Amino acid sequence: MPLKNGNELLLAAKAGVYAVGAFNVNNIEQTTAVLEAAAAECAPVIIAVTEGAIKYAGEEFFFSAVPRMAAASSVPVAVHLDHGKKFEAIVRCIRGGFSSVMFDGSALPFDENVAKTKKVVEVAHAAGVSVEGEIGVVGGSETGVEATAAEATMTEPADAARFVELTGVDSVAVAVGTIHGMRKQTAKLDLDRISAIAASVPVPLVLHGASGVPDELYPQAISRGICKINIGTELQKSFTAGVRRFLETNPDVIDPRKVLRPGVDEMKDMVIKKIRLFNSVGKG
Ligand code: 13P
Repeated sequence: MPLKNGNELLLAAKAGVYAVGAFNVNNIEQTTAVLEAAAAECAPVIIAVTEGAIKYAGEEFFFSAVPRMAAASSVPVAVHLDHGKKFEAIVRCIRGGFSSVMFDGSALPFDENVAKTKKVVEVAHAAGVSVEGEIGVVGGSETGVEATAAEATMTEPADAARFVELTGVDSVAVAVGTIHGMRKQTAKLDLDRISAIAASVPVPLVLHGASGVPDELYPQAISRGICKINIGTELQKSFTAGVRRFLETNPDVIDPRKVLRPGVDEMKDMVIKKIRLFNSVGKG
């Protein structure tokens, strides 16, 4: 089916009390893993692409192949720029066929974050592309902020309300206890903060750094208003574990298709596990 605008997916998730997984990919194998998992579970998904991923695999891949692979899927898929920081790079993604973009001005002073996010909203909305903003700082490897600083920059509900009203964003990423890049599921979510923010803003809420969230907390976060959950680190871990295990037992195999497929399979299993935890099975 045609590529979906991010907003369409998230408004349906908000109404249906489930979350759409935004899964980070860097190459064709990881894109295949996400799309196969989504089709298997009949779930909507967001293919999340960072500026770093585009630098790695190239604009030709992400602007031509990926939107076409997504549109060839039997389930609703959005292709989304994750943590866009440069206006020019965001515009290139919009022109390149992405259906959703994030502007991450979370490290900027409030007024500057608002002004820059608003500029992205104007350009993106004119092209029918939805926009995610961020208020508060999630921290960790995406932003270069030390993990210990995360607590100090949790999102204030009143700030989120003003930010959404002033910028016109379609969804907002909030800092509620996660940190990007956690390899263990030990994050402590501030569930009451999620509820308070959800009561203050009309748009869907986004949880970043969600690899660190214990499985049992995903449904609670969703019931309190999280509609999009970003997973990156867990997928890198599972993909690499699959490849590593295969090579350990098959050191003589040199065909990259045989070496990489176990990585696809292991990552696909992880995406399926998350889709089930996010209650998005059958919502595609
Ligand atoms: P993790 O790598 O911690 O799962 O975070 C992913 C993310 O939030 C991407 O925006």
